[in-house]
Amino acid sequence: MFIIRQYIDTDLEDIITLWEACDLTRPWNNPEIDIFRKIAQKDGLFLLAVKDEQLIATVMGGYDGHCGWVNYLAVHPHYQRNGVATALLQQLEKRLIAIGCPKLQLLIHKENIDVQSFYEQLGYEELEVICLGKRLIQD
Ligand SMILES: CC(C)(COP(=O)(O)OP(=O)(O)OC[C@H]1O[C@@H](n2cnc3c(N)ncnc32)[C@H](O)[C@@H]1OP(=O)(O)O)[C@@H](O)C(=O)NCCC(=O)NCCS
Repeated sequence: MFIIRQYIDTDLEDIITLWEACDLTRPWNNPEIDIFRKIAQKDGLFLLAVKDEQLIATVMGGYDGHCGWVNYLAVHPHYQRNGVATALLQQLEKRLIAIGCPKLQLLIHKENIDVQSFYEQLGYEELEVICLGKRLIQD
């Protein structure tokens, strides 16, 4: 069994190690700065799964007033295919609904497209959009 709880400061290093194990870090995103930016928002949407006091999964949720976002959904390779990501995402959905968020979106990197079927079996559908981005601050 595992519990789902919010981020606390002592989680920082374990989270970065987990994201590295899950190949979610990118050279253009400094994970430590990403975490500091997130907790500064104080929205209670950065959720972790913990088993026997060991971090096994993360999801960094957000809500911009128009839609919710899923970032950094990651389950440690040893604990994958046990329903952990499903439970985390469902907990995030519940919290977003409670604050009136009408829809939830996420981006999948092209090289990670296999993961699409994970989201589809939870009711997520591909949207007919092109995603554009612009870096405003270099990490
Ligand atoms: C994607 C990820 C979060 C799934 O976590 P998980 O805890 O293993 O997922 P669940 O156990 O809740 O999976 C539920 C179902 O989704 C599907 N699924 C899960 N992982 C899948 C994958 N990698 N590819 C295809 N389908 C997958 C399966 O149908 C699974 O049910 P089953 O195990 O009974 O077959 C995990 O593989 C991971 O951390 N990957 C690396 C990081 C990543 O790519 N994150 C997503 C960024 S967009």
